Amino acid sequence: MRTRSSEIFKRSCMSIPGGVNSPVRACRSVGIEPMIAESGRDDMVIDADNNAYIDYCGSWGALILGHAHPRVVEAAVRQVEMGSSFGIATPVEEALAAKIVSLVPSIEKIRFVSSGTEATMTAIRLARGFSGRTKIVKFSGCYHGHSDALLTQAGSGAAFLNPQATSLGVPAAVIADTLTLPFNDEEKLAELFASHGSEIAAVILEPIPANMGLVLPEPQFLQRIRKETERAGALLIFDEVITGFRVGLQGAQGLYNIRPDLTCFGKIIGGGFPAAAVGGKGEIMDCLAPLGQVYQAGTLSGNPVAMAAGLAVLEELEKPGFYHALQDKTDRLLLPIEEAVLEKNLDLCIQRAGSMFTIFFGVRQVLCREDLAGADPMRFARFFRALFDKGIYVPPLQQEAWFVSAAHTGGHLDFTAEAVIDSCIR
Ligand SMILES: Cc1ncc(COP(=O)(O)O)c(C=O)c1O
Repeated sequence: MRTRSSEIFKRSCMSIPGGVNSPVRACRSVGIEPMIAESGRDDMVIDADNNAYIDYCGSWGALILGHAHPRVVEAAVRQVEMGSSFGIATPVEEALAAKIVSLVPSIEKIRFVSSGTEATMTAIRLARGFSGRTKIVKFSGCYHGHSDALLTQAGSGAAFLNPQATSLGVPAAVIADTLTLPFNDEEKLAELFASHGSEIAAVILEPIPANMGLVLPEPQFLQRIRKETERAGALLIFDEVITGFRVGLQGAQGLYNIRPDLTCFGKIIGGGFPAAAVGGKGEIMDCLAPLGQVYQAGTLSGNPVAMAAGLAVLEELEKPGFYHALQDKTDRLLLPIEEAVLEKNLDLCIQRAGSMFTIFFGVRQVLCREDLAGADPMRFARFFRALFDKGIYVPPLQQEAWFVSAAHTGGHLDFTAEAVIDSCIR
């Protein structure tokens, strides 16, 4: 029964476009009315009708500790009681900045903003300001938020807009300097650098893309990008809004042992509150105002409640064995599913990195957005609804990543594995 949820959604549609404040959560591609969440605790989200769901969306990866983790709640409440916003520098933003600088070797300085979109937008402006060049390179199917320059051949919900995955309202002139390549294609990358290398300000990518579903970089692909950017004097920007502190304390750059010039963070560093950041080499970061001429600002940037929550989360992640335990949980969920897929030769594939993964129906491997042409959205929609009926909430779009949190219990993981296998086979 979702009576109250349905009423709320219908009223929302009267005052909010599509009834939602971000398109994918509308659940249109899976053919249900959206979940209306009222509360969350640990690995469960509770809707407006008091139905409980095991949650693998986790606020799109932000909630690595699950919902309402006691330490995060305590840190946030303490800060709210002391004042929730000042528009003035605070001790807690310095503490979170120092923490991230100490954990991620490529980050010498960091500037906090309020969303991943702002972080990537600022990184692009900074790269252009620093280099004096205009062209940027991105990869089709990677999503870097909804700023104009990056909203072309984008992933996530934007992927379905039109063949170019470009929003109306983005002037052609604004994206004329955004060059797009297929992910994992070293040859095309080399060709582009051979022809335009000296004009390229930066290459931006999700080092492990999660917005066309979870896609792994081919073994030498990231190294090749690093080499080409270095040779051409272009900056390398890792968008680690999802992977940062998700796949390890040093993110994807730690896993693949690559030092980008700039890194964007979001999601986890805000502990479930709006916070994101761009960080990197001091020499580049110092081009930002007030030291330099690249302008960036924000009323709520470095919001102390978000900073306190983010700091509490990072302190938990630093505890010995955290990522190991999270990997064990993910294995507990995925190993039986992977076994069943092999045994029954199911026409699907599971791609995973650390505690995030995607199940693609109708394809055996996805290396780039172009490989998604064979993925079957109707099968995913049926699968989503079957899980939803069993009290399991997963991202309502095939081309998204699922997230396991530290709060997922063994019982819930086993229950999910069984439900997934059952729903895949049917
Ligand atoms: C890799 C990546 N970059 C940037 C963004 C944009 O972040 P936000 O939604 O906070 O603006 C997202 C959002 O999902 C993302 O996944």
